[in-house]
Amino acid sequence: MKGSLQLLDRYPELWQASSTLLILEEAAQDALNLRSEGELSFLPLLASSHDSLQQANAKSHFSLNPEPGYEQIIIDLPKAKGLTQMLVHLASSLLSPQGKLMITGENKGGIKSIAKLLDATGDQGQLCGRKLASACHSALWLVEGWQQLKPFQLEDWWQQVQLESGLTLWSLPGVFSQQKLDQGTACLLDALPTLKGRVLDFGCGNGVLAYSMLKRQPELELTLIDDSLLACTSATRTAEENSLSATILCRNGLPKGLNGLDWIISNPPFHQGRGTQYDIAREFLQWAPRTLRLSGQIAVVANQFLAYEPLLEQGFLRSKELHRDAGFKVLWAEKPKKLKNR
Ligand SMILES: C[S@@+](CC[C@H](N)C(=O)[O-])C[C@H]1O[C@@H](n2cnc3c(N)ncnc32)[C@H](O)[C@@H]1O
Repeated sequence: MKGSLQLLDRYPELWQASSTLLILEEAAQDALNLRSEGELSFLPLLASSHDSLQQANAKSHFSLNPEPGYEQIIIDLPKAKGLTQMLVHLASSLLSPQGKLMITGENKGGIKSIAKLLDATGDQGQLCGRKLASACHSALWLVEGWQQLKPFQLEDWWQQVQLESGLTLWSLPGVFSQQKLDQGTACLLDALPTLKGRVLDFGCGNGVLAYSMLKRQPELELTLIDDSLLACTSATRTAEENSLSATILCRNGLPKGLNGLDWIISNPPFHQGRGTQYDIAREFLQWAPRTLRLSGQIAVVANQFLAYEPLLEQGFLRSKELHRDAGFKVLWAEKPKKLKNR
């Protein structure tokens, strides 16, 4: 069990509250093992977590505006620092007046600097933290002063990045490259040829790849997929603000029924959890040929040390490196091999 949740499990008194909301990114399976006497609900930030919770018939609200009125809310410290502050504010709007707000997190995930982070809330109101417990290489903190925070408005948390193409990217905290265009993404955009037909942007983030291509070629039919609720919310806002239209799916991986695509473009995820893992990218590259037409093409950008070439060679009749720059490479392949289950 993830240390931060294992710590919660050690304190049965935490679970006597009549209603608890647990806000979490990953480790939904672990959270299902928490034994609560009161009602335990979840606000997962990833579609994959929401799926696991729903499959176990847990109460999961996959939304940034769930019904308020919780007696306590516990935030499992997310990876992005700016996101913690937004979640604290969101939680403050969902608690009953006498409610309790807590944050649990692992030492390696940065829980040790939570007091500083809470202190830095600045113009939003004054917060401070008090450590309640530590064990399992993790700590549990009580957040004090949340009642004085300015009312939560999602509008306060958006950041915009204006690109030379005229596209304005809208992103919420925690979304990949919220503050500036990623170098790898820029490298892929420079190398992409003219696309055609039905195009998928896998791991879309705020939608930068898909919408940049749609600006160049308004005739494209675009689908965007991302596992993150905040990324999909950002991709939706970016489309609205730029008067662009696309289908946005909040999903973990490539949906089984997706097929007949002409193109896939992606800056695939390769960090999951706090280590470096390639499982998602590997699964994506292995499944991608099944979603493309026989004439279909794929272009992905990767750090130069990532060995995606063998996967493309396995799945496609032709593949090559299109471009190499600043530690990144753009890989391209076409004509998916006839695989079983097509
Ligand atoms: C490297 S970022 C690229 C974002 C955006 N395309 C860009 O270039 O700025 C990878 C994205 O993949 C998403 N992601 C991670 N795991 C995923 C999964 N299992 N299914 C779908 N998307 C995933 C992340 O949320 C993240 O937005």
